Amino acid sequence: MNGTVVSAEIDAGTRAIDLIRNTFGLTGTKEACGQGECGSCTILLDEEAVHSCLLLAAQLNKTQVVTIEGLEKNGELDILQQAFLEAGAVQCGYCTPGMIMAAKGLLLHNPSPSTEEIKEAMSGNLCRCTGYKKIIEAVEMAAARQGVDT
Ligand code: FES
Ligand code: FES
Repeated sequence: MNGTVVSAEIDAGTRAIDLIRNTFGLTGTKEACGQGECGSCTILLDEEAVHSCLLLAAQLNKTQVVTIEGLEKNGELDILQQAFLEAGAVQCGYCTPGMIMAAKGLLLHNPSPSTEEIKEAMSGNLCRCTGYKKIIEAVEMAAARQGVDT
């Protein structure tokens, strides 16, 4: 979990999102619909963006999980976190962790996505505030900067 080996005893039916939030206290991962429809609970599971409300906690066993808390390194925001702030892509912020994790999953596999590819990758993430334009711009900004950094 975010680069640290962790373990927990859980009931067989425990969901991954509950393990993350309640057992490990990583409350940056948000629950809204609880049904795989909104993306607010998105995490990276072995570098794939997944909805943690649809997974059992047991499915995280022997995997690498990254939550929004795992992106910041040495007190520095991840390139996506910074871009979301600068682009004005955060309003109430409830969808933001899931948006950023979905975008992270995209950029890990496709460092230079087209606008259409960004829209496609983020299509499982809903936002009630921003109208999406600034979110797409933020991901484009991060992708462009990532290209400069690497
Ligand atoms: S809370 Fe998981 S997809 Fe909505
Ligand atoms: S910023 Fe409020 S739901 Fe997206």
